[in-house]
Amino acid sequence: MITGKTKIIGIFGDPIEHTLSPLIHNEAFSYLGLDYCYVAFNVKKDKLKEATEAIRALNIRGVNITVPHKETVIQYIDEVSDEAKNIGAVNTILNNEGILKGFNTDVNGFILSLKDEGISIKNKNFLILGAGGAAKAIVYGILKEGGKVYIYNRTPSKALAIKEKFKKFGFIEIVEMDKSVTEKIDVIVNATSLGLKKDDPMPLNPELIKPEHVYCDIVYPETPLMREAEQIGCKVVGGIGMLLWQAAFAFKIWTEVEAPIEIMKKTLNKLLTKD
Ligand SMILES: NC(=O)c1ccc[n+]([C@@H]2O[C@H](COP(=O)([O-])OP(=O)(O)OC[C@H]3O[C@@H](n4cnc5c(N)ncnc54)[C@H](OP(=O)(O)O)[C@@H]3O)[C@@H](O)[C@H]2O)c1
Repeated sequence: MITGKTKIIGIFGDPIEHTLSPLIHNEAFSYLGLDYCYVAFNVKKDKLKEATEAIRALNIRGVNITVPHKETVIQYIDEVSDEAKNIGAVNTILNNEGILKGFNTDVNGFILSLKDEGISIKNKNFLILGAGGAAKAIVYGILKEGGKVYIYNRTPSKALAIKEKFKKFGFIEIVEMDKSVTEKIDVIVNATSLGLKKDDPMPLNPELIKPEHVYCDIVYPETPLMREAEQIGCKVVGGIGMLLWQAAFAFKIWTEVEAPIEIMKKTLNKLLTKD
């Protein structure tokens, strides 16, 4: 029940109507009997400053930040975690008595989604497809965990920018897409936005995938290339794990309580297998 004491958590994004975050978090709050309520706010680019100031004015406990605000929101908050600073993107804000601190839980969200499936990162060779916002968090996480990154993007200048930004954290090389590259790879990660729409091209020619590869896709629920990789015989990891774990880390930041992972997982699976 929402009362005068209920603490408010939000998410700022545009578009936002599709977000699963309110459902995951509200289910978790209710399961643990925590007096919180999570709501989605459609925040346009030109209203982000006012919306961020409103976190203080309305005494909102915290928010998630999603597309297209993860980078631009940094200028409006008071503190930024080292991780978020290094990536240049914030997906979670905590309001601690009027001080707004930004975090990036996508990094550990991705790492935990792999570890949860028994996939180790240290000294492994990762092929990252894409060089957008999500790819930055993923590349940073892999390098921090001691993995090696080979990156391919349709627009090479963006891959180059990622290499320049992150080379101080470990091994990172830009590649063209051919067999000589995929042969040395352990884990392939689709961090492009391809795979959701029916007419999307494949982010990688399936002929370059071998049964020994782990194939990981951050697009969810399931992409055509995930199905191809499964048929080839790969171990396949979908994007639901990253979604789940980034939510779990944000939950802990706001409530200081461990997130009920199994409940969140069940909620997500129920939502994504609905139709
Ligand atoms: N599972 C999770 O928790 C989670 C978390 C974050 C994001 N995601 C998903 O990850 C995806 C990427 O998110 P983002 O924020 O990184 O998006 P973004 O910043 O817009 O980046 C999109 C990437 O996809 C590439 N791309 C788009 N269309 C392409 C095409 N036709 N051919 C080749 N490459 C193409 C872009 O290449 P160019 O640079 O050449 O344009 C760019 O590298 C989204 O679907 C998002 O929903 C999932």
